[in-house]
Amino acid sequence: MHQFTENSTLLAIESSCDETSAALYQGGALKSNIISSQMFHTKFGGIVPELASRAHVQHIGAVVREALNEAGLAMQDVDAIAVTQAPGLAGSLVVGTNFAKGLALRYNLPIVAVNHVEGHIYSAFIENTAIAFPFLALIVSGGHTSLFFVESFERYTAVGSTRDDAAGEAFDKIAKLLGLGYPGGIHIDRLAKEGRADAVAFPRSMMRDDNFDFSFSGLKTAVRTYCQKTLAAPPNEQQLRDICASAQEAIVDVLVHKTLKAAENLGAKDIVVAGGVAANSRLRVRLQEAAAETGRSVFIPAMSYCTDNAAMIGCIGREKLLRGVQSPLTFTIGVGSLRARYR
Ligand code: KG4
Ligand code: ZN
Repeated sequence: MHQFTENSTLLAIESSCDETSAALYQGGALKSNIISSQMFHTKFGGIVPELASRAHVQHIGAVVREALNEAGLAMQDVDAIAVTQAPGLAGSLVVGTNFAKGLALRYNLPIVAVNHVEGHIYSAFIENTAIAFPFLALIVSGGHTSLFFVESFERYTAVGSTRDDAAGEAFDKIAKLLGLGYPGGIHIDRLAKEGRADAVAFPRSMMRDDNFDFSFSGLKTAVRTYCQKTLAAPPNEQQLRDICASAQEAIVDVLVHKTLKAAENLGAKDIVVAGGVAANSRLRVRLQEAAAETGRSVFIPAMSYCTDNAAMIGCIGREKLLRGVQSPLTFTIGVGSLRARYR
């Protein structure tokens, strides 16, 4: 077995949803991060789990090979493997974990199982190692909307999360009922730029509640009711832009308010945002403004590290291996929710 040190080489694999990804680190340097996205799900208006796992099976070998090639490395150079264990689609997780285990067996390498959400939480460290603990992490994607108070690489606490739909899911569902494409966030973001954010007073669920939880399912219903009852006819182009801007503002208002309140109450220095919704232009502007008012900085990783990718799994996988954490080859995929703390 190889001893994992600061200079060791790590292969990371991510396959929890609809991205097949592999990354290589040599020492602390990220050498490659190959992401193969399964674009064919768009025509179904959402991810089809069985098709996702089949596509992972088809692509994972080539993705790992390409990551090695781009890094100028061979499997013989690799000292350890990090792989996403949970949460995610069961069939997708099985492909990545079994591929990783096969390589670990063949090359006699240590393996570390990584929680996907932990990958997102620490993803800002891929590019920026100067982030100070404790910080607050807002993870916003199609599957998650959660706030974490992060004290170290080994200690973080979930302080709030959505009680129903994730923020990205709200963007996607609203876009679907407005007849826009999937994934919906990008379409709403684009149309909202020419709309009035105060055109429709959509609800800000739980915004004033004394906790850091979220609820977005009511917003989708409010948009549907507004279209059916108030407009009573399909929205024209300007009405569509106004609905997009107003719905987006309702989501962003709640995200910004709760994130800043949590940072303030918990004494977090800075704020890290990751997940696909971190691409939202309005969320970026509003968060930066609000954080600056309280002397905080906002760190948002580059988009290729914000959406699902293996570099983020390698980043925290490396920290775990350096602390002596390894997983037995018998580990299974996790189907439960994220534990608040690891170790
Ligand atoms: O992290 P991600 O790629 O996949 C997971 O859900 O794990 O996030 C995808 C989500 C989708 O819900 C999509 O609508 C949303 O991120 N999204 C956006 C934007 N770009 C992607 N939401 C709002 N504004 C955007 N510009
Ligand atoms: Zn994710």
